[in-house]
Amino acid sequence: MSTSAVDEQNTVVAGVDLGDLELANTVRNGLEQVEKLLIDELSDGEDFLQEAALHLAKAGGKRFRPLFTILTGQLGPNPTDPALITAGTVVELVHLATLYHDDVMDEAPMRRGAASVNSRWGNSIAILAGDYLFAHASRLTSTLGPDAVRIIAETFAELVTGQMRETMGARESQDPVEHYLRVVWEKTGSLIAASGRFGGTFSGADTDHVERLARLGDAVGTAFQISDDIIDISSAAEQSGKTPGTDLREGVHTLPVLYALREEGADGDRLRTMLTHPVGSASDHPRVLARPLETDAEVEEALVLLGRSRGMVLAKEKLQGYADIAHTELSALPAGPANDALERLVRYTIERVG
Ligand code: IPE
Ligand code: IPE
Ligand code: MG
Ligand code: MG
Repeated sequence: MSTSAVDEQNTVVAGVDLGDLELANTVRNGLEQVEKLLIDELSDGEDFLQEAALHLAKAGGKRFRPLFTILTGQLGPNPTDPALITAGTVVELVHLATLYHDDVMDEAPMRRGAASVNSRWGNSIAILAGDYLFAHASRLTSTLGPDAVRIIAETFAELVTGQMRETMGARESQDPVEHYLRVVWEKTGSLIAASGRFGGTFSGADTDHVERLARLGDAVGTAFQISDDIIDISSAAEQSGKTPGTDLREGVHTLPVLYALREEGADGDRLRTMLTHPVGSASDHPRVLARPLETDAEVEEALVLLGRSRGMVLAKEKLQGYADIAHTELSALPAGPANDALERLVRYTIERVG
């Protein structure tokens, strides 16, 4: 292997090529410290709690949110402030807690390439272990001061609001795409916005800069969730570490599905029959018009129809729109290797859908 090939390799951190060796080494070092703090934080409870609490942290995961905190922190005047490590650990702990609860709600059998906590130990343990992770996140946040505590509390409230809004479904009078985008911002954008806000705050950036990083996080986070929803349709479990079609089984209509359901022609007709109740017929819950798929055969058929639908193309166009917003925010932030690396991270978020 040539030296340049090795160097190229070393600029990849948490799956994203940051493009600059020195920056990559700094960020990698920061993420290693996050990893250590994360495991230490979860290793001091009773044995029976530890196994469930450490299960997903040890199973894998991209560490996208700590990466975003540390990387946005490289744009500020104090990029090596240890508070960035604590903040990066906090956002991963909050994320982990929500995954435990999300997999219960979505009845997901698999996460990070491993059995989900609910499928391995049951819903009660998954809910309690998720609460335990959030308790640890709160404890750690308290070491960052009252503003950080407030930001995490507000973020968690937004995130839960998004999960609840998704569960309730759009009202008949509401545009389902608008409803979807609001859910996505709340359930995913909010935490990535908080990750950027922490990156700015704890590296000593000024208020305008911090607010811009929060808006950058909004756009990146929204794009990240849209790409995740496209991947739920288009990728095999070996790639995503999750079971494809989970959203369809739960009756959750994501962006590509919403667009595909508007299409004319035989495929559109078939998808409407499979995925929706006629308006008003779901009398037990008048707002929910989505019909959850029950059999593997139905899921497979819907995945094929959706995969070739124009809905996928339109969802990718929407994704690009958020990348453009992110680009605008970045162009007003300090230039240099960290800014270039954030551009690469935005591109990664778009291109991971294939
Ligand atoms: C999964 O998040 C949930 C979403 C908000 C899409 P990630 O895709 O960051 O999951 P991990 O942390 O890598 O497992
Ligand atoms: C992820 O939501 C959980 C949160 C963002 C809180 P999803 O249900 O859409 O994500 P995956 O596909 O299970 O990771
Ligand atoms: Mg889920
Ligand atoms: Mg979910």
